[in-house]
Amino acid sequence: MPEPTSPPAPHAPSQSVSFDISTGTGVLRTPGSAYALRIGADGSPRHVYWGAPLSDAEIAALPSAKSPADSSFEADAVADELAVETGARFGPAGLRVRFADGTRGAQWRFEGFDLDPDGPGDTLRVRLVDRVYPLAADLHYRVWPDTDVIERWVTLRHTGGPGADAGTGSIVVERCDSAAWTLPARPDYRLSHLVGGWSSEFQLRRDRVPVAETTLTSRRGATSHHANPWLALDDGTATETAGQVWSAALAWSGSWRITVERDPVGRLSFTGGAGHEGVGVTLQPGETWQTPVFAGLYSGAGFGGASRAWHAYVRAHVLPHPEEDRPVVYNSWEATGFDVTEADQKKLAGLAARAGAELFVLDDGWFGARRDDTAGLGDWAPFRGAFPNGLRPLAAEVRRLGMRFGLWVEPEMVNVDSDLYRAHPDWVIHSPTREPTELRNQLMLNLGRPDTAAWVLRTLDALVRENSVDFLKWDMNRVVTEAGWPGHPDPDRLWTEHVRSVYRIMDRLRADHPALRIEGCAGGGGRVDLGIMARTDQCWTSDNTDPVDRIGIQAGFGQVYPAAAMAAWATDSPNGSTFRETPLRFRFHVAMAGALGLGGDLAEWSEEELDQAAAFVAEYKEIRPLVQRGIAWRLRSADGVSGVHYAAPDDSEHVVLVWRPTMAFGHEPAPVVLPGLRAGSRYVDLFWGAEYSGESLTTRGLPLGLPAGDYASRVIRLRRV
Ligand code: DGJ
Repeated sequence: MPEPTSPPAPHAPSQSVSFDISTGTGVLRTPGSAYALRIGADGSPRHVYWGAPLSDAEIAALPSAKSPADSSFEADAVADELAVETGARFGPAGLRVRFADGTRGAQWRFEGFDLDPDGPGDTLRVRLVDRVYPLAADLHYRVWPDTDVIERWVTLRHTGGPGADAGTGSIVVERCDSAAWTLPARPDYRLSHLVGGWSSEFQLRRDRVPVAETTLTSRRGATSHHANPWLALDDGTATETAGQVWSAALAWSGSWRITVERDPVGRLSFTGGAGHEGVGVTLQPGETWQTPVFAGLYSGAGFGGASRAWHAYVRAHVLPHPEEDRPVVYNSWEATGFDVTEADQKKLAGLAARAGAELFVLDDGWFGARRDDTAGLGDWAPFRGAFPNGLRPLAAEVRRLGMRFGLWVEPEMVNVDSDLYRAHPDWVIHSPTREPTELRNQLMLNLGRPDTAAWVLRTLDALVRENSVDFLKWDMNRVVTEAGWPGHPDPDRLWTEHVRSVYRIMDRLRADHPALRIEGCAGGGGRVDLGIMARTDQCWTSDNTDPVDRIGIQAGFGQVYPAAAMAAWATDSPNGSTFRETPLRFRFHVAMAGALGLGGDLAEWSEEELDQAAAFVAEYKEIRPLVQRGIAWRLRSADGVSGVHYAAPDDSEHVVLVWRPTMAFGHEPAPVVLPGLRAGSRYVDLFWGAEYSGESLTTRGLPLGLPAGDYASRVIRLRRV
């Protein structure tokens, strides 16, 4: 193990994070896992262990990964913490750099480590410097006392001064991942991931991992509907309730890439970070580049255990206001589309309040020349034909009805047919020599430009201030094409700078308007990730509000993100997207598994339907703390019944939502086993009055009492007696 070239910085002792300089081994400990890395002979940090807790002695005895210098013809992956391109490394490189003289790849010297330099949380920083060129990299690790999630990120620094000579000039960073993770050798590996498209987000796939490189990615400049930056890996034997699962999620809302490499001798590693291939940045002397966090999690409790750990982490360390109840939102989009007027929105507001909504959101169509999706985006002044006195009269009426006022915006976008575009055609992402691609008839503002970003912030700030807006639904309905930034010396920066600018604007708005809440939306669930969740209170899950499709979409969302952040509306029947007819009760019962909202044309609902809606909303408000802050157990029976059980952390209250879209063969569904209940406790069904022991519910299961027929559902509430 090479000597560090500088002594470690003084540090406060931390039990969760340690580094033994004599062996070059760093150890991270979480309540239910341990992680170890060791500096290799070539100066590169290499993976040693990630799994169930081990003693210090056991970790010290673990062998180091083979040195890449020894293994040019070996079959196994190199197990770097961040793979560089030098040495006998032939897998996917997490760090790809080119120096001014054409030399490729970093070659590290271990410079030292710091404990707890990056609070809060317990952190480890491993400092590396290139042996020849002015490049330094810090690998950061953070753990918290209440989660098994390990957060990792990388900082690169061009350490050359302004007078650096030609040999040390700018450094092209073609790729800089946030972290690579290595799993132990297993005979087989299975990849769980989320795929989909518009209206079909978060479809869970479980595929056998080939002995090959498998890439999950978005090249769209946004998280995407098509793949979510999350994965889980197991050896093919994990179940919902048992088995080892390794999982990771990226806190980034732009293009991203995660490459999984399974080697022929059974080991698996994956490397991931922001950006897609062919797009990089050029670092100038003195410049620092920081990656987003790539968070990883080991669970010994199966897929359900991994999800519960993600939910707890997102609530404790990602969402801005985890302690708050998400309000019951009414949103006008499915009712009125672009055709909004003060009168009809006031009418909907009255009906929404009657149904128990707590926040009324005026969706698209309220501004500029926005009568459809061809014009007006970017002109954020109320359309006087529909709102003759601006938005304040509607906002006042909404408040009079006892609700908060929310407003739809799509601040990153512009229609070509808009005053904004006519005034600032240069503000959009474009390549002057290329035909622009309009998606949904719109172009995308380049928020990497300080002038454009400042205008967006000013505009949103004024909208919120002048109309006392409590809630912004921040939409984004197209992705990046013709990715140019004319006049910028390093135009590929737009891929990251746009995203960072969105983050900065959201952060600033929130800081300046502490009561403002934000719903993230991107044509449904096209931008749901840990990065956007750190600045939004909930995310619009999908434009598909058909409850049958939603069961799968919500189950996929819930693999990693908690119910509090999952906006779910009960809407009209037949459904506007799928034309399926479903009972009101079924629509509500599915939406009640997340942050319930109403999205239908309430003006078309009968008195009876409105009364029923009010009763469902009232019931939801009773179970809301459990749904939004409880511990989630996904349920499945053999009879086409699925559901979710939310348990109070202290076991006192439970709610079980079950849905059966289709009845098969006229069979009564079997009781559903509730593994989240405790042996030794007794529970009463608050509706039927039946009493059960924990043993019976965790082994025999809960009789569902579902009515016969399709679209059967129930909300079952249990209380410990
Ligand atoms: C896409 C969103 O997902 C919808 O809910 C709605 O806000 C429309 N955009 C409005 O254009």
